[in-house]
Amino acid sequence: MNAHMPAHPGQPAQGPQPLPGVDAIIAVGSGKGGVGKTTLAVNLAVAMAKMGHKVGLLDADVYGPNVPLMLGVSGQPKMVGENRIEPLQAFGLKVISVGFLNPGDKPIIWRGPMLHQIVKQFLSMVEWGHLDYMIVDLPPGTGDIALSLVQNVPLTGAVVVSTPSDVSLQDARKAIEMFRQMKVDLIGVVENMSYFVCPHCDHEIDIFSRGGAENMVGMDMGHDHIADRQPSPGADCGPEHDPFMIAAAGVDHRDRIISDDEPDIGDFVIIGR
Ligand SMILES: Nc1ncnc2c1ncn2[C@@H]1O[C@H](COP(=O)(O)OP(=O)(O)OP(=O)(O)O)[C@@H](O)[C@H]1O
Ligand SMILES: [Mg+2]
Repeated sequence: MNAHMPAHPGQPAQGPQPLPGVDAIIAVGSGKGGVGKTTLAVNLAVAMAKMGHKVGLLDADVYGPNVPLMLGVSGQPKMVGENRIEPLQAFGLKVISVGFLNPGDKPIIWRGPMLHQIVKQFLSMVEWGHLDYMIVDLPPGTGDIALSLVQNVPLTGAVVVSTPSDVSLQDARKAIEMFRQMKVDLIGVVENMSYFVCPHCDHEIDIFSRGGAENMVGMDMGHDHIADRQPSPGADCGPEHDPFMIAAAGVDHRDRIISDDEPDIGDFVIIGR
């Protein structure tokens, strides 16, 4: 696959162009759905913003835009100037999502070229201003959206999320391979829902098979960045819950990163580096 192919045959290939004012763009993807991409993207973005960075969160999951719910933010973005879109603000982030433009339960049925257009518009028509980091929450799989993103802008890197289950890992391998083929650096693999801590006896229960992602990344792929995250109650955030936040700076070998607000659930571990 050539990620820099023209979107339509006959058009000149332009290649990805840097987004003016945006220093780094990080995509969060996975092969399988429901493994915690949006949860990670939201928490990573909020944590970075809390650390003083200017952060934008682009919800590129046009099929199931969950970022508005997870951040507890809704509303129509305002148009400014000539066709510029003002992102909404939440937890110190600038946020854009199809969920703001099409709230409710009615799906928009997207075709490939429309997907390409919406990604392009979210990148170039939104008033992002200066951002240290733009976090992009991708839909599951290895499809059009990721390809459009890579065709439009140079990505600083990608984070792949998986649970330790074999089926999730099988699909995560595909996502990792997709980023490799598109020449996007793999920043890390996050093993989410790694284990569950029983609230009654504090016993750690491996729901799937803890360490599966670590094995995959270390043995199969020769990479050495991995994090794991236990399931925690209230992870959906929304109006009643703040995002639990995963701090992300200065992470080193087996550093345990604890959120400011809720240390008991901020159990996020980076293994190996
Ligand atoms: N560590 C966790 N602890 C508890 N709940 C979690 C955790 N990670 C994810 N969840 C919950 O699991 C569900 C799926 O998570 P999320 O929506 O982030 O997955 P996703 O990979 O973005 O899904 P999709 O592929 O549909 O976009 C959500 O309800 C989320 O709150
Ligand atoms: Mg999601």
